[in-house]
Amino acid sequence: MLSEFSAHVPDRAPGRGALRPARSWLHSDAPTLSLNGTWRFRLSPTASVAEDFAAEDHDDRGWDDLTVPSHWVLEGDGAHGRPIYTNVQFPFPIDPPHVPDENPTGDHRRHFEMPADWSDAERVLLRFDGVESLFRVWVNGVEIGSAAGSRLAHEFDVTSAVRPGDNVVAVRVHQWSAASYLEDQDQWWLPGIFRDVTLIARPAGGIEDVWLRTGFADGHGRVDMEITAEPTAYPVTLRIPELGVERTWSAPADVTPFGIADVDPWSAEQPRLYDVTVSTAAETVTLRAGFRTVEIRGDRFLVNGRRVVFHGVNRHETHPLRGRVFDEEHAREDLARMKRFNVNAIRTSHYPPHPRLLDLADELGFWVVLECDLETHGFEKLDWVGNPSDDPAWREAYLDRIERTVERDKNHPGIVIWSLGNEAGTGCNLAAMSAWVHARDPERPVHYEGDYTGEYTDVYSRMYASVPETEQIGTDGSRAPLLNCTPAQGARQRTKPFLLCEYAHAMGNGPGAFDQYEALVHRYPRLHGGFVWEWRDHGILTTTADGTPYYAYGGDFGEVVHDGNFVMDGMLLSDDVPTPSLHEFKAVVQPLRFTFDGDEVRIANLRHTADTSDLRFRWRVEHDGASVDSGCLDVPAVLAGEVARVPLPETVVAPDAETWLTVEAVLSAGTAWADEGHVIAEAQLDRSAHRPVRAARARAGWRPGDGTLTLGRAEFAGGSLTRFGDRPVTGPRLELFRAPTDNDEGAWGEVGESDASVAGVSHAELWRRDGLDRLTTRRVSVEHADGALRTVDKVSAANSGSWVMAESTWSLEGGEVELRVETEPSRGWHTVWPRIGIAFDLPDGDAPVDGADWFGLGPHESYPDSLRAARTGRFSATVDDLSVDYARPQETGHRSALRRLTLTCADTAVLRIEALPDTRGRRPGFTLGRHTPQEIARAGHPFELPSSTTTRLIVDAAQHGLGSRACGPDVWPEFALRPESRTIRLRLT
Ligand code: GAL
Repeated sequence: MLSEFSAHVPDRAPGRGALRPARSWLHSDAPTLSLNGTWRFRLSPTASVAEDFAAEDHDDRGWDDLTVPSHWVLEGDGAHGRPIYTNVQFPFPIDPPHVPDENPTGDHRRHFEMPADWSDAERVLLRFDGVESLFRVWVNGVEIGSAAGSRLAHEFDVTSAVRPGDNVVAVRVHQWSAASYLEDQDQWWLPGIFRDVTLIARPAGGIEDVWLRTGFADGHGRVDMEITAEPTAYPVTLRIPELGVERTWSAPADVTPFGIADVDPWSAEQPRLYDVTVSTAAETVTLRAGFRTVEIRGDRFLVNGRRVVFHGVNRHETHPLRGRVFDEEHAREDLARMKRFNVNAIRTSHYPPHPRLLDLADELGFWVVLECDLETHGFEKLDWVGNPSDDPAWREAYLDRIERTVERDKNHPGIVIWSLGNEAGTGCNLAAMSAWVHARDPERPVHYEGDYTGEYTDVYSRMYASVPETEQIGTDGSRAPLLNCTPAQGARQRTKPFLLCEYAHAMGNGPGAFDQYEALVHRYPRLHGGFVWEWRDHGILTTTADGTPYYAYGGDFGEVVHDGNFVMDGMLLSDDVPTPSLHEFKAVVQPLRFTFDGDEVRIANLRHTADTSDLRFRWRVEHDGASVDSGCLDVPAVLAGEVARVPLPETVVAPDAETWLTVEAVLSAGTAWADEGHVIAEAQLDRSAHRPVRAARARAGWRPGDGTLTLGRAEFAGGSLTRFGDRPVTGPRLELFRAPTDNDEGAWGEVGESDASVAGVSHAELWRRDGLDRLTTRRVSVEHADGALRTVDKVSAANSGSWVMAESTWSLEGGEVELRVETEPSRGWHTVWPRIGIAFDLPDGDAPVDGADWFGLGPHESYPDSLRAARTGRFSATVDDLSVDYARPQETGHRSALRRLTLTCADTAVLRIEALPDTRGRRPGFTLGRHTPQEIARAGHPFELPSSTTTRLIVDAAQHGLGSRACGPDVWPEFALRPESRTIRLRLT
């Protein structure tokens, strides 16, 4: 027999008894009591467990202790079940609103002491800031109510149930409920009471809610207050001490909008906040006001009259140990890091974050798109049949969600757009949500990407539109249809501002093409930028059976259905390490742009509001990467949107070295998010004198040989290098394979989107089909000449009729050993290639090669479509630091445009390589690591990489681009590597 409650687990209603309307999350001096801490906890496998646990005197001595807030699956070392990761898939049968009987149910209990003086309170509320997914509450054995909406706040009136002194609160949480159908976001399913639980004393004559609406125009602020308080609570006083504002209203009708002269506006760049208090005799509420006006004018999205460009990220709440449990210090550091990397906007994908996060965003300065807790993506599999978004039975649940979202966070100046949710199809309930927002907050536009035809939203939004498609959207009067739109609907969408709510899928190594999207934003004012998917990986720190720590992804906890490492798609690794893509993003979106023009540099300030008076401009000159001169540019404060022309310093050009001039804009004083001297923007100018490339010396007199000889310090056997100096070094071996990146494994995209891709088939699959990962070699010839050795190899894979000829010529050139490798593909290769490189192995012996010093592009890895963060200079790194620890091992570490490389062993040079440009001036790149591409490709996690006794060097004539085909466009044709002939020329010393 089902208990009364388990029967309502499948209830579509949002719960019973939580207070409505919801209120702002306010900072008040009314007494509160945090119920965070240690609770008693019992996990049951189904929802139909007896409810006697809620009785005051229930014996919970056999239960566990559990910290609240937490997710029970992340506590207790697996004793409380395991996390589940799915993207679109529901981890239970699609049978709405029902969920399986196997429904992990966590019962929680704790005692608390209510202070004696709380008996004066008019009401006592119990507030839950986040519980996943449905919960029911008792106080002292009295049932109080239930609620769903995991990432939303719920308050209950518990006045009649509490008493001074000892009390018992009991909470039953079901992992699955009808609400789970509305919470199908691409993330871990993590049940539990994962945000704060607070008991709140509400004084008689207190302030129930405040909405401090502000505006800004022409140097003046506007305040339009909404105060929710009993008429008997008046007078109410508003104070903004810094502005000398003090207003007392003696009755609700007196509260009318007013203006304030001389205020500084709030913007993401200059997040000027003013402390505000709102008081009655019984209570004072503290807020921070930012003055700003949000507005859509035609197809422009404006704040304070100026167009906003979002250089944003999608931010999930995720922490490797705590899951979605908020950690303020970690979050603050995360936001500060965003600022350091030129991120100016956050979409709170795909639910409201912990309320404190928005305080931090106001304070540090971000444009925020605040998204409601809603996604029903799993219905796509059923062609959206039964999708709650279009079923009136779910209307109440949808409206409850958006009301709780907007009401909780309405006071934040940083929030400039409300978003209804993500990937929930379309339908009447979404339209109803939008109508509700329009009525309640007409000053902020409504966003929802799934409203393709623009029926009920105010901005046009898309995800993963390709560069050409995005450009299409930017153009006026184009007849090209927009996705899912009739011509008339397309015309309607073109009247609105456009943003990419997701683009540039940052999974694993990638994405490429940030710069192409960025260029469009400056060409087409309708395009307002976008939000990279996504800020950080969601790895959960765990260990293998033998105790090796690693960051888990889908499947690592034995889930029945899961989506593998699709949850590892951030620009930040799970352990907070920025990936090269974050450096690339920073460089591409830098708010100052430098254009060199003769003896001048044009400095464009692309910021929204701020001039450049917070910056200093430095320059330096380097000869082959060694600094020879430096100084500061004299730059007047450049206003936002303006350009200054500044003379460049005299540069001493070296006759026999490359001469590079670097200019940087750096912070002239520390801020809340970076130290003085932090680089905001930089650019380089090549001032090198022209130096002809030494031609390869033609050799004659070739005769067959056995390939065993010595040339200078190089020793050969059978035509291959075996030693250099006193170290074993073997090679070169033609390498066409790279451990596929997540984008190489992706098969996303339209037919013909890129001429290099086959629709529905990943490049990696084609590479494996063609055997690029298992090439074999037949040595066709070995020849000697005076001071020279030449081999010809035919390289091909089993069951393939295509091959590559590789001719390697070693010669002594003025005491140096030169290697020239010419590669030439046969006909019949139809795919793009990952790389054209030559590999060398350097066995460890008793002194492993453990570091590199190079002059070329660095310091981070770079690929043809991700080169903007790379600068020309001299860099050094340990071998380990040359690779990025992507959660799933894959191609990493390529440094482009190499000039000189020194391999080191305990800081001593063991091999020096000079890379000469080919006849078209192209220089090779290099990768130095401990594993072959084949070994990396076989590992699903870093701990699966075999132990290594060899350092591997690959010098690449070329690499394929990155693209973002894991979930987005393929590599742009210009950066796709096609089979072609290449030459690599190296000097070894
Ligand atoms: C989008 C979705 C995101 C995420 C992304 C792929 O479709 O909105 O939540 O799943 O794809 O990583």
